[in-house]
Amino acid sequence: MSEEIRDDMSFAEMLEASEAKPLYAGKIVKAKVISVSPTECVVGIDGSKHTGVVTLREMSHDPNAKMEDLVKVDDELDLVVVKTNDQEGVDTLSRVRFEAQKGMKDVAAEERPVVGQMINDVRAEIETIIDKQKAVIAEAALAHKLEAETIDVTLPGEEVVIGKEHPLNIVLNELKEIFIGLGFSIAEGPEVELDHYNFEALNIPKDHPARDTQDTFYISDNVVLRTQTSGMQVRVMEQKKPPIRIIAPGRVYRSDAVDATHSPLFHQIEGLVVDKGIRMSDLKGILELFAKKLYGEDTVVRFRPHHFPFTEPSAEMDIQCYRCHGAGCPLCKGEGWIEILGGGMVHPKVLKNGGVNPDEYSGFAFGIGLERLVMFRFNIDDMRLLYENDLRFLSQF
Ligand code: DAH
Repeated sequence: MSEEIRDDMSFAEMLEASEAKPLYAGKIVKAKVISVSPTECVVGIDGSKHTGVVTLREMSHDPNAKMEDLVKVDDELDLVVVKTNDQEGVDTLSRVRFEAQKGMKDVAAEERPVVGQMINDVRAEIETIIDKQKAVIAEAALAHKLEAETIDVTLPGEEVVIGKEHPLNIVLNELKEIFIGLGFSIAEGPEVELDHYNFEALNIPKDHPARDTQDTFYISDNVVLRTQTSGMQVRVMEQKKPPIRIIAPGRVYRSDAVDATHSPLFHQIEGLVVDKGIRMSDLKGILELFAKKLYGEDTVVRFRPHHFPFTEPSAEMDIQCYRCHGAGCPLCKGEGWIEILGGGMVHPKVLKNGGVNPDEYSGFAFGIGLERLVMFRFNIDDMRLLYENDLRFLSQF
C-alpha cells in the first residue's frame, strides 16, 4: 500500500492521494464501486481499512494484464469479510453490482464496451467473493450451531421420573377386567346427582333414617354430591332394557370427617344385573367368583343378612382374612373376616322406578368400597395415605 495512504484517512482523502500516486497497482479491488467514468472505476470497501481505488486508466497501462492479475482478492479482504460473518457483509458486496451498473449511464457510448467489460469482470470477481462468503457464513453458522448444540455424551443423563399407577387404579383396573370377563360393561354417571337418583328412586324418601348415615353436600334441595353409586342402577335401567349387566365405578361423597377409615370423598363400584329369572344364588355365585379372582382361588367368603332400602333381601359379603384364616389378627382387627361389599336382590320398587316390570324381570345389585379393597389388598392401615400423593408411599405399589 502507498505510504501516503494511511488507515486513518477518509475515503475522499484516499481518493485524493491515489490521484497523485495511484494506490492501485494491480492489487486490490474490493467492495463498493463508488463511481464509474470512461477512465476511472472507483471501488472501495466500506468500513475496511484497506479501502482501495482502481482506475481504468491504471488498468489500461498494461492492456495485456489479465483481470485476475489486476483484481485480486487478498487475504485482508477475506479477513474483513469473514469478520462481518453475517448477512450484512454479503449485502454490502451485493450492492457493488447495483451501483456499478448505475454508473454506466455517465459513460460515453463509445467507451461503454470497454468499461462494461471492466465492470463485468469486476462484478464476476465480486460475485465469486459473494458466493465464497455465503459459503463461509453458512459454514460458520453451522459450526456455531454444532458448537452450541454440542452434547457431552459422557455426562450422566437426567433421570426421567416415570409415574406409577395409583393403588386405587391398580385394583380398580383389575376389578374392571374381572367383571368385563364375566360379560359386564362399564357405565358412568354424574357425581353431582339429583336427590331423586341418589335417594328417592332407591326407596330412600326424605324422612328415611338411611339418609342420616349418608349425609352429603347439598348443591340445592334437589341436587347433591352423590353418596353412593347406587343411583346408577336407576339411571342404567332408564337407559337400556334388560338384560342388563353393568358395573359403575366412580367417586362418591359424604360429609364425614377425615380419619384413618373415613374420607369425605371415596370410591365405589356399583354392580347391576337385571334379566328374567335372576336369583340370589346368581348374586352369590358372581361375587364369590369375583373375590376368588381378586384375592386368589382359596379365598373364603360368607354372606351375612343385612338391610338396604333398595334391595330385598340384602346381604353383606365378608372375605375370610387371608393372614389369619379366620382366627383373628391385627389386619382383620381380630374379626377373622373383612366386610367388602353390600348387595341383594333389587327391590321391586327400584325396578319400577327404572321402568322395569318386576313381574317379568328380577335383578341383583351390589356396591363395593374400592378403598377397603385396596387397603386390605396392600395392607394399608390409614386411608389418608391414598390421597396424600406422597411419592414415597405411592412408589411402593
Ligand atoms: N350403596 C350402598 C352403600 O353405599 C352399598 C350397596 C349395598 C350397594 C347394597 C348396592 C346394594 O347395590 O345392593 O352403602
